[in-house]
Amino acid sequence: MEIKVSQCVDTEVLVINMFEGEKTSQELANTYVLEKDGFEGKFGQTYLLHTLGQIAAAKILVIGCGKRDEFNADKMRTIVSKAVRKLHQIRAKKAVFDFDLNEDYGKSAALGAMIADYAYDKFKSEKAHHLDEIAFTKFSQEQLDEGRIFGEAMKFTRDLANTPAQIATPSKLAEIAQNIEGVETKVFEKEEIEKMGMGAFLAVGQGSVNPPKFIHMKYSNGNPKKRIAIIGKGICFDSGGLDIKPASSMLTMKDDMSGAACVLGVMQALSKLNPEIEVHGIIAACENIPSGSSYKPGDILTAKNGKTIEVDNTDAEGRLTLADALCYACELGVDEVIDIATLTGACMVALGTIATGVMGNDEDMIKRVMETAEHSGEKCWQLPMFKEYFNSLKSDIADMKNTGSRYGGASAAGVFLQEFVKDVKWVHIDIAGTAYLEKPQNEFISGATGVGVRTLLNYLK
Ligand code: BES
Ligand code: MN
Ligand code: ZN
Repeated sequence: MEIKVSQCVDTEVLVINMFEGEKTSQELANTYVLEKDGFEGKFGQTYLLHTLGQIAAAKILVIGCGKRDEFNADKMRTIVSKAVRKLHQIRAKKAVFDFDLNEDYGKSAALGAMIADYAYDKFKSEKAHHLDEIAFTKFSQEQLDEGRIFGEAMKFTRDLANTPAQIATPSKLAEIAQNIEGVETKVFEKEEIEKMGMGAFLAVGQGSVNPPKFIHMKYSNGNPKKRIAIIGKGICFDSGGLDIKPASSMLTMKDDMSGAACVLGVMQALSKLNPEIEVHGIIAACENIPSGSSYKPGDILTAKNGKTIEVDNTDAEGRLTLADALCYACELGVDEVIDIATLTGACMVALGTIATGVMGNDEDMIKRVMETAEHSGEKCWQLPMFKEYFNSLKSDIADMKNTGSRYGGASAAGVFLQEFVKDVKWVHIDIAGTAYLEKPQNEFISGATGVGVRTLLNYLK
């Protein structure tokens, strides 16, 4: 889909907006929409009008924007995505958006269009309908282009997280990382991972025939003002291991590498945005599979920092892989570390599919990440990291267990991870509920959402 600026309204569908209690910019629309059918311009309402040759465009799509003084970038993204949905329904290929607005909402508009134009139809004989071209009369190309880069990053992430686990293996993630332009990538093989002392990560992957890969990508432009590491949970399939999941919980577990997919999407967008920063993208990729060589409940693992972990449950594997990835990131001497992970069902129980959980060891950094998420259109909520959550992780024979009480699971996972964070500001983002939708929600179809991409890109920028 091409997204451009154009003043020419000679098109298939002219999309215009209407604020509640106001008229639209098109006389024709005002006559029909307002006077005859009582369309009120309530937020999200749409009205389609055939112009029958009275103006250059064949159809007008009016889209309700609610009250003018309540309008914002978030609403812009939503209404453009609604309009695109409608354009799909009528099988339109081209549209011009002529919005009566003075602010440059180009970034939100382009992003809304790209989110709504997304489909995962690689394996369908009948392909989804897509728009070929949309144009905006009011916004700048610069803002539209930025929205497009964000939108492409989200598409990249969604495609990868939607890809079945039979294809999106650890080796595949490594190959993708190695092909990202403008990024230096080093992939560590199993023997090297052993040498680095990543006993927790290795244990999780040891049951699978697909070998683990430890991926380190680096983006840097000339003189970076700040150095940040972003770590994505990369469990390419989470069966639970020997503590196997019930069928219904396992069904969507190809998405357990959504954090990794997010990091890859962000890394491939960085060289297009060129921020003055150094970013390390880190993924400990493996599969959690039961077999004769699997790790077992009761095993004691030694992480890269020397701490020992008694395996209480093989399904709490993400924190084991992240433990070693966090140790590795801290040794890089970066200023900040962010990890993003489909970590706990408990986070999903607490916040549903609506909001992402956020924790960390530095209130100021947590606040900055949360503010960025909010203005990126991604809802998040801070969860506590009281030291008492560690009580249930105490082990009689090792430094800690990987799980404990059934209650407060998201926070328990947070304090577990903190054991592997040393001398660095750190934020942990739990996307278990928000990474993958079983049914459509807002501008998203079911499947992977690409959550985190917008927040991380805006944060790094
Ligand atoms: N990948 C899951 C968490 C998850 C659950 C993500 C639902 C998305 C949707 C994670 O590895 C897991 O299995 N966590 C367990 C931990 C438990 C054994 C302490 C969980 O949350 O049930
Ligand atoms: Mn698990
Ligand atoms: Zn998992």
